[in-house]
Amino acid sequence: MENKKIKIALLGIGTVGGGVYKLIKKRKDMMENLIGTQLEVSKILVHNKRKKREGIDEALITDDWKEILEDKEIRIVVELMGGIEPAKTMILEALKAGKQVVTANKDLLAEYGQELLETAAENRVDLMFEAAVAGGIPIIRPLKQCLAGNEITEIMGIVNGTTNFILTKMFEEGMEFEDALAMATKLGYAEADPTADIKGYDAGRKVAIMASIAFHSRVRFADVYTEGITKISAKDIAYAKELDCVIKLLGIAHNTQDGIEVGVYPVMLDKGHPLASVRDSFNAVYVEGDAVGDAMFYGRGAGEFPTASAVMGDLIETARNLESGCSGRIGCTCYKQIPIKPFEEVKNSFFLRIQVKNEPGVLARIANVFGSHKVSIARVVQKNSKNKSAELVIVTEKVKEYHMQDALDELEGMDITESVCSVIREYDGR
Ligand code: NAP
Ligand code: HSE
Repeated sequence: MENKKIKIALLGIGTVGGGVYKLIKKRKDMMENLIGTQLEVSKILVHNKRKKREGIDEALITDDWKEILEDKEIRIVVELMGGIEPAKTMILEALKAGKQVVTANKDLLAEYGQELLETAAENRVDLMFEAAVAGGIPIIRPLKQCLAGNEITEIMGIVNGTTNFILTKMFEEGMEFEDALAMATKLGYAEADPTADIKGYDAGRKVAIMASIAFHSRVRFADVYTEGITKISAKDIAYAKELDCVIKLLGIAHNTQDGIEVGVYPVMLDKGHPLASVRDSFNAVYVEGDAVGDAMFYGRGAGEFPTASAVMGDLIETARNLESGCSGRIGCTCYKQIPIKPFEEVKNSFFLRIQVKNEPGVLARIANVFGSHKVSIARVVQKNSKNKSAELVIVTEKVKEYHMQDALDELEGMDITESVCSVIREYDGR
């Protein structure tokens, strides 16, 4: 008698798809015990059918989506192509056809998560996406299930490996940004086009997804303030060391009484904070719940097998649900509609580095500008004065973003200001 099998289709067999394909083969015997049935890849959709693919059964390869959609025996579709289209149309069509879907596509979920999850619910099927946030680190299921008894007020993390690698190299080896990026590219961490990594968009998408689940209220990528690491210099790193801090690109989301504050930006982070010790291309997510207290999830946020690990977890869960006849049991958990606080209204403290003319009265004029925009200064130090020029390092108290911006706009237009070199937020909790 032939073993029972659940047939699946992979859409894409690149880095992650390749890892999933290999893991399914490697874990063949385990599946029987875990799920009570085998998982079998019966079709693989690709862009370029003629590409040579070592170790992949060529008979499975197709470039015709309809072959998969119309195959009633295929019960799970695993989308690992990336991008918005055609992934969105294919996932929607698969869900409407009653197929379960697993995806790693953060771009799609951060933009169209609601529509996709509603479609899954209407069709009583699973849509799982653990790999979309922080690669191999389990965070979606812990938020939806293990931490479901908590009210989560803060979720933040280092969710982009490329930028964490660059910042680590700058901090530990004194490298300049461009050199560290070139190294990340050579080692295969950065994307061919690293724009989404270094500008914070990749992290922004992941934070939108995490915040939606943590706060039970939809947060879209467009709601997330994003600022990358391109302006961070070796000099900023040196000052961070002086202040006993590290600089990290953090995605930060807070559920406050007057709305959700959400952004991705570089921060000066105290060396004692657990996220400060997350180095190289590692990721970590830090959650604050009213019952659990602080919890941190740490591991590899990208790569073939770490990401495939998360996809496999979803696949096994989906297959178990199919076997138990309870697909679609845990769908969208966004039952609230919490407003998103405009980022200009968010309060932060700032580290500023300003090059000014070195002459009497300059400090007083600068203090006056800050004061007139309700920016309170916590500390100021004059550094590296050379003849007619001086560097001022200013740390502010917590101020509203728009007050800080107005003060900087005025400063930049003044005859005494040579340049505003750095504006970096400090993380000091809420
Ligand atoms: P990848 O290496 O570029 O592979 C993409 C695969 O999709 C290729 O096999 C490609 O076909 C196929 N494909 C692309 N467009 C297609 C289309 N229009 N029709 C049919 N097939 C198409 O991508 P990846 O790095 O594996 O990423 C896949 C997904 O996982 C993305 O959503 C990404 O954001 C997410 N993710 C990746 C990582 C990571 O470490 N790479 C981590 C977390 C999440 P060809 O082979 O014919 O070109
Ligand atoms: N480019 C991403 C990173 C990996 O550097 O973390 C995929 O999410």
